[in-house]
Amino acid sequence: ASSDGAGSERTLAIVKPDGVWSNHAEEIKKIVLASGFSILQEKTVQLDEESAASFYSEHSKKKFFRSLVQYMISGPVLVMVLEKENAIADWRMLIGPTDSNKAKITHPRSIRTMCGTDAEKNCVHGSDSDQSAQREISFFFSSETPGGTVMGHDEL
Ligand code: TYD
Ligand code: MG
Repeated sequence: ASSDGAGSERTLAIVKPDGVWSNHAEEIKKIVLASGFSILQEKTVQLDEESAASFYSEHSKKKFFRSLVQYMISGPVLVMVLEKENAIADWRMLIGPTDSNKAKITHPRSIRTMCGTDAEKNCVHGSDSDQSAQREISFFFSSETPGGTVMGHDEL
């Protein structure tokens, strides 16, 4: 998203509830930093039904939507703004394909292979385009409409 010079690009990454509960957040952050991303902002939030549905509104007509929303509100998520050159595509590459079961076969070293379970519980999110990245970053980090309730880390 919004480049701020030197060809850098921003994307939104989320460690979903299964990744947070299974204690993969720190490991994922290490991979992020080792892969050359800067973490510009991060927070742990608890989404409610309305905010999760709004975040995934593009999928509101899909069969999996209700279940997806329940999964996303099943516990806190770690939300991060990542920056590097080609951040959007590179982060999508690191996390691997949507379905963790397929990822295990085709992308064995991906993050979704490491900590995801199936096509729904896939552990991590990455923006899919510059437009999505801008929308998703302001969804969580604009002061007017902060998605979710910020959690203290001692509440995890
Ligand atoms: P999608 O945007 O297609 O995948 P991605 O997260 O890779 O951009 O779908 C959004 C989320 O919806 C996906 O991360 C998990 C969930 N989902 C399902 O539960 N079942 C499905 O069949 C698909 C395609 C997605
Ligand atoms: Mg998507």
